Formats: sequence, structure tokens, C-alpha cells
Amino acid sequence: MSDTITIFDTTLRDGEQSPGCSMTKPEKLDVAKALVELGVDVIEAGFPIASPGDFEAVQAISREFGDRTTICGLARCRKEDIDRARDALVDAENKRIHVFLATSSIHREFKLKMDKDEIVNTAIEMVKRAVDYCSNIEFSPEDAARTELDFLCEVIEKTIDAGATTVNIPDTVGYATPSHFRHVISYLKENVPNIDKAVISTHCHNDLGLAVANSLAAIEAGARQVECTINGLGERAGNAALEEIVMALKTRTDHYGCDVNINTSKLFPTSRLVSGIAGMIVQRNKAIVGQNAFAHEAGIHQHGILQERTTYEIMRPNDVGYVGTNLVLGKHSGRHAFRDRVTSLGYELDDETFQRVFDDFIALADKKKEVYDADIVALIENRMGDALEKWELIRFQAIAGTTMPTATVKLKAKDEEEVICDAATGDGPVDAIFRAIERVTGITARLEDYQVRSVSSGKDAQGEVLVSVTANGQIYHGKSVSTDIVEASAQAYLKALNKAIANSKTNDNGQES
Ligand code: KIV
Ligand code: ZN
Repeated sequence: MSDTITIFDTTLRDGEQSPGCSMTKPEKLDVAKALVELGVDVIEAGFPIASPGDFEAVQAISREFGDRTTICGLARCRKEDIDRARDALVDAENKRIHVFLATSSIHREFKLKMDKDEIVNTAIEMVKRAVDYCSNIEFSPEDAARTELDFLCEVIEKTIDAGATTVNIPDTVGYATPSHFRHVISYLKENVPNIDKAVISTHCHNDLGLAVANSLAAIEAGARQVECTINGLGERAGNAALEEIVMALKTRTDHYGCDVNINTSKLFPTSRLVSGIAGMIVQRNKAIVGQNAFAHEAGIHQHGILQERTTYEIMRPNDVGYVGTNLVLGKHSGRHAFRDRVTSLGYELDDETFQRVFDDFIALADKKKEVYDADIVALIENRMGDALEKWELIRFQAIAGTTMPTATVKLKAKDEEEVICDAATGDGPVDAIFRAIERVTGITARLEDYQVRSVSSGKDAQGEVLVSVTANGQIYHGKSVSTDIVEASAQAYLKALNKAIANSKTNDNGQES
């Protein structure tokens, strides 16, 4: 193996920046923990100057995980940005400041109103300022893919001289094609005299659906860092999908000759976590982490696979931690066997959460003929973070129909004895139950998105509901499962409202904006 590719994850910065995908601080910490366990080399944890919330998230991630991976903070070429990034990263043992400035003619003329000399001088000055704080500095000429090549070479050469240790080549607007992007990287390698003093990185957006292909083409030309996000999350059509890059490199080592430090069996659970937190359902046929990524329907394929797996399968589902429709234990299997199953699915649960999930499993096995691994994972995800929730749904009743859909709910607030009951009517049972929940909790939210999918097949399958709401000007997501989709909807809505309550409490304490 000749080289290791640095995996730079920007789910918490570029991914979180995309509309509707914002995360609370506890959610960012959960994602950061999953990224550390996945083995990413660099976590871009946020853009500290952007908001107090971003600053605190970068600070908290630096404190918690800065000894296990490199934590990076983004900064424009402005003194105050760089100083804010330095302050947010101060507790990280391993840190990087990522400084960027646009270089393309279109950005120079219309956005920055700066000429080439001003761009070069500002970039040099700000990289030097960052170097005073931290030895690990990345410089990005924003919109590099549309920058004149000779000017790009000049900027890269001078920022390396100023101390940049990684030079990132962004295709900010997703304009590049694989052969074009390969040429850009090769040109830099051939024409920047000090290029060997820095790592070349790629940062590709997916507007033409080419982000992964362009990143891989850059690796062919000599790039040794890839910037990517879980599930390809990111502005507009997103960034290059981490799981696709990693599995392409792993599956085609014969071609790329490169390795990565990623624990690939964590790809599927990390994808599910980010999907739930960011409120973005993964399309069923998405490469690597889609529900159908390993489903072979055609008889000819199934026959081939039974004879020899590699006839139609280039990766094993286990390699990416894929959880499918393997039949699991029945309700008589017992706690011991159930705990083994939970562990083999890659989850470590504390005793209280385990007991709750086990009770849910017994209840599900009573209702449903066949319980699959995917059901177990849905139950586990459903109970994670439960302990922090203010309101719990004790009971509900919903009536659908053309006359007057109605719902009644009984909710209990954490640490309080009293159970509160209320009812509402609505356009349908889901609308009615959302309104009833709002009456009890006293929070009014705007429903931004509502999605339902079945976890497995069959009429008795569990329905998984994902809701996105705006409350107090911020977006929150909630996910839940049940064989009854009205119940799953109520639970998902309540989870989103619980997050809004928890976040407003931290705001009141002045700890987070
Ligand atoms: O897309 C882009 O150019 C960016 C830079 C900040 C690297 O996200
Ligand atoms: Zn970007």
C-alpha cells in the first residue's frame, strides 16, 4: 500500500450549513462521537465566528474529542475569524485552522471586489496569522475549479510559503468534471515548485452529481486528503459522500493503491444517526448506505449469489455494517441473547436504555410475526437520548374519518407527578394529535417536513416517522417508530418539541444561542 488518504469530514460544518439540517449542540456532540468511532482523521466541527452556537460546539468537540482526532475550525481571511477559531480550538490537543478566500475571477470581481494582488497578499497575511496560533493550517482558494490555473498556482505556492500545510482545492459550485479536475490537480503538482511541502486536498460539491467522481479523479492525480460528509449532506446538492469515497478506495485498492483509516463497519450506523439528526432521509437506492444497497431482487442475481457471492456482490453487507432483514430472536429468546444481538449490531447501551429497548422488543414481538435486525436498530435509535426528554407520551387515542378527526393525549413531564390530558381536532388524526401535544406542552411549532417509511416489509411492519419543525426560529428534528404510525408521529413530534425545550433552556442560561 503506497499511501493513506486523510479523511476530512465536514458534516458538522458544510453539511450542517445546508438549509433545514441544523443541529443542536448535544446532537453535534453525538455526531462527533460517531465520527471519532468511525475513524475520520479530521473533523471540521464548525465555523466559530458564524454564531455563538457554532463557537460553543467547536469548543465542546475540541474538549471532548481533540485528543482522539484533529478538530478543525473554519475562518475567512479576516483577523477576527482566525482569532475566534483559535479560541474555539484552544482545548483541542490536535487542531487545525482552515482559512479560505475566493480566487476565481467571478468571485474577485463581484463578491470580493479585490484584484489578484490583494487576494494573494491577504491570503499570505492571514495564513501567517493562523500559523502563529497553530502549526496545522489548511488554506482553501474558494471556487478553485473556476480559477485561472496560473493564478491558482501562484496563490498555492505563496500560501504554502506562508505556512499552509494542507492546500484544499474546492469545487465550490460543483462545476468540475472528472477529467477537468484531474487536470487541475496534475497541473498544480507540475507547476507549483513547493507543492511537496503540503498535502493536496479536494472539496467537491455535487451540483452535477459528480462530487465523488471528481474527488476520486483528484486522488488519481495525487490528492491525499478528501473532504466529504456523511450521506453527502451539504449545501444544495451536497458534498462528496464519505461512505462512497471510502468504499471506492477500499473496494478498488487494485486501482487506487491507497488506504484509509476508516472502520467501515461503522458506516451504516453513522449514516442512520446523521440522517435522523439532520432530518434527511437517505434514498433507498443510495450507494453503500441505502436500504436497498445490498438487496438483490432479480432471480438471476439471487441464483448467482447462492452459487458464488462475488458473481454479483462487490462488497459484503457486513463490511459497511449494513443491517437488513435478517430474522432475529423471538420473544422467548431472553435478555442474554438479546444483549448479544444488540452488541453484534454495534451498539453499547447503558443498563437503563437497554431495559427500555428490551421491553419495546418484547412488546413488538407480541404484535408482529417477524422481528428483523432493522426493527431492533429502529428500537435502539428510538430510545437513545430518552433520559434528556422533558415530556413523555403516556397514552393517546386518535380517531380518523371524514366528520371530525380528533385526538386525545396524556403526557407526563419529567420529575413531576401530574399527568396532563388534553384533546384537539385537526385535518386528520396526525394533525389532531400534533395540536393536542402543543396544547399540553405550551409550544407552538411549524411543521416543515413529515416523512414516513416502513422499517421492513409486511403489513405489520414498523413505520418510522421523521418530522422537522421550526420552534422559536430554529429547526428541530424528531424520529420515532411504532407499528402504529399515528403513535410514531406523536412520539417524533414530541421528540422535536423536547429538543426545542432543552435548547431554549440552555439559551436562557446564556450558554448557547
Ligand atoms: O465549498 C467551498 O468552497 C467551501 C470552502 C469553505 C472550502 O466550503
Ligand atoms: Zn463547501
